[in-house]
Amino acid sequence: MRVVPLVERPDLAEQVSVWGFGEWGHLNPGQTLDRRRAKIQGKMNVDRVPIAFVALGDDDGIVGTASLIFDDLDGDPRNPWLASVYVPVEHRKKGIASALVRTVEDAARRIGYDRLYLFTSTAPSLYEGLGWKALEQRDYRGEIIQVMEKSL
Ligand SMILES: CC(C)(COP(=O)(O)OP(=O)(O)OC[C@H]1O[C@@H](n2cnc3c(N)ncnc32)[C@H](O)[C@@H]1OP(=O)(O)O)[C@@H](O)C(=O)NCCC(=O)NCCS
Repeated sequence: MRVVPLVERPDLAEQVSVWGFGEWGHLNPGQTLDRRRAKIQGKMNVDRVPIAFVALGDDDGIVGTASLIFDDLDGDPRNPWLASVYVPVEHRKKGIASALVRTVEDAARRIGYDRLYLFTSTAPSLYEGLGWKALEQRDYRGEIIQVMEKSL
């Protein structure tokens, strides 16, 4: 398994959009699959934010995705953020998300950031295991989320 910037595999942008819309569409009022597609096109970067990454399996098929973005929580002044970490069910529990998270951390560090943020309602233990620290919990658009940070 290896992780590459999505810009190296633009053919996978459609799958990344479909996963993201299915998983987080409800958190973004007014979002459509078309808007998600357009946003992904804006993440085709290598050394500037935002960057989408994809994890590739041995057959070079997509087995996960994650992004480094500037803003994530509406109105929150902190940045940048690790976001959109997704691994399809059949590939979970093999360390793919962990590899994606480390890649995003490395990219943020390389670009010059010394701190990275994320929020999650589903996987705080995954990030704790990777050295992330829990900050506040809050209600965000009807969901209880945990905000976390990592010093890079
Ligand atoms: C959350 C999610 C990204 C995790 O992906 P994953 O690839 O299964 O994550 P990893 O394999 O790196 O780690 C998951 C767990 O498997 C364990 N694990 C890793 N490699 C393993 C292996 N070879 N054998 C058994 N377990 C393993 C890890 O210790 C970790 O345990 P934890 O949950 O207690 O921390 C995935 O379940 C997902 O996409 N969920 C839906 C979207 C979502 O919730 N995204 C997070 C939003 S912030």
